[in-house]
Amino acid sequence: MSAASTYNYKIIRQFSIMTIVWGIVGMAVGLLIAAQLAWPSLNFDIPWLTYGRLRPLHTNAVIFAFGGCALFATSYYVVQRTCHVRLCSDRLAAFTFWGWQLVILAAAVTLPLGITTSKEYAELEWPIDILIAVVWIAYAYVFFGTILKRRIKHIYVANWFYGSFIITVAVLHIFNSLAVPVSLLKSYSIYAGVQDAMVQWWYGHNAVGFFLTAGFLGMMYYFVPKQANRPVYSYRLSVVHFWSLIFVYMWAGPHHLHYSALPDWAQSLGMVMSVILLAPSWGGMINGIMTLSGAWHKLRTDPVLRFLIVSLSFYGMSTFEGPMMSIRTVNALSHYTDWTIGHVHSGALGWVAMISLGCMYYLFPRLYGREMYSVKLIEVHFWTSTIGIVLYIVSMWVAGIMQGLMWRAVNDDGTLTYSFIETVKAMHPFYIIRFLGGALFLLGVLIMTYNLIRTVSGGKPVESPVPEPAGAH
Ligand code: HEM
Ligand code: HEM
Repeated sequence: MSAASTYNYKIIRQFSIMTIVWGIVGMAVGLLIAAQLAWPSLNFDIPWLTYGRLRPLHTNAVIFAFGGCALFATSYYVVQRTCHVRLCSDRLAAFTFWGWQLVILAAAVTLPLGITTSKEYAELEWPIDILIAVVWIAYAYVFFGTILKRRIKHIYVANWFYGSFIITVAVLHIFNSLAVPVSLLKSYSIYAGVQDAMVQWWYGHNAVGFFLTAGFLGMMYYFVPKQANRPVYSYRLSVVHFWSLIFVYMWAGPHHLHYSALPDWAQSLGMVMSVILLAPSWGGMINGIMTLSGAWHKLRTDPVLRFLIVSLSFYGMSTFEGPMMSIRTVNALSHYTDWTIGHVHSGALGWVAMISLGCMYYLFPRLYGREMYSVKLIEVHFWTSTIGIVLYIVSMWVAGIMQGLMWRAVNDDGTLTYSFIETVKAMHPFYIIRFLGGALFLLGVLIMTYNLIRTVSGGKPVESPVPEPAGAH
């Protein structure tokens, strides 16, 4: 029997296609808001096209729609392949697909209309929150149910990461979203004041740690060894990596609330835990990159592997930068500036998007039994995206540090050296460079889309199913 009939590939195909679709939509909105920051007339004086409403649309679309679909697709693939069984319920899996698309659609309608809880990354109103919780519980059932009926005794490390991501996101989402509804589309958080802020950033930071990191580390642990055709560098390190990462992440949230009304000790605890977080993060990165030891030459010829390894380099870079920005004196400069935006996108574009796109290049030929239409175009995509990311983050670093320094500059008599509008004007060239970087990144994804469409619709069928290289388990 072929892999396609043993395993449920339909659900993976559906989520993979939507990863690309939502990637294009989310990044196009990102590009539009980047353009609005450079040329404000692009707000067009139409309320639902204004920056304030489109920004959360961008973050929700790229994180939960693009990133979320990539996580669903790869986790369903990995759990089946490493447990050697079909998903435990095709129907519930289909429910997670349609339910998640409904959540995304609801977000795409309500956010531009200005319907929002105003909690960052948790903007959706309570009826949508309930739908998210239901879909997520179904996801947990399918994922863990499949693990329970596995034919392999060992639970491969990628599943540990996916599993922790699924459980933690459920807990974070449910507790942070607790609210009192006052109408169908308006609710008030049950938390107030600084407690609300603390719960929100416990959620926000762990959304980074588990939605944008742990799940993607699951991808790393499966797809890097597979694509490199090498066993993972160190299983022992992967176990230490797992437990230390999930333990430390939980405490780091207060670094988002430095110099706020949050008690000093809590801020210091967040800072210390964030600095410690460097160690497990780099342990994981090293485990991924060193998986290539003895096979470095493959980087020269395999552009898909390059996507995966470059994503790990950006992961290493952003998890070095993050702990530095958590130090209070550094945060005093970086907070509120574009430096944060640079940090976010070195993680989001460099790590999350690059590894997701690399995994899609791995999956599509296998899901459709076709050879990739053009390896050359993957190469072009790789360079377009990499140059795009570099333009984006370098412009934001320069802009952010300049912005922070201009805000704090004082004259001898104690007055501010620069007015606010002078700092805004100084940002303008960098906003244009960021726009160009984003445009290049999106162009890369469009090239990929063309390549995938040609692969699926007319690509050369693979005689025998694309072999699964030995290695990961
Ligand atoms: C073409 C690609 C992209 C462009 C042009 C873009 C552009 C932008 C812009 C202009 C902002 C607002 C910055 C500000 O408020 O000053 C933003 C925010 C954000 N973007 Fe993107 N983005 C892109 C891709 C992505 C991707 C792929 C992700 C995640 C996987 C992402 C995650 C975020 C997040 C989390 C924020 C909010 C940051 C914060 O509040 O500090 N972006 N993006
Ligand atoms: C060791 C790991 C990391 C640490 C300690 C860390 C630390 C930080 C710090 C200190 C800030 C600025 C907070 C502020 O001034 O408001 C920040 C913002 C942010 N980071 Fe990280 N970071 C890490 C890794 C990452 C990664 C890998 C990603 C993305 C995949 C990421 C995404 C974000 C986002 C989205 C924000 C903006 C939050 C907001 O909306 O204000 N971080 N991070």
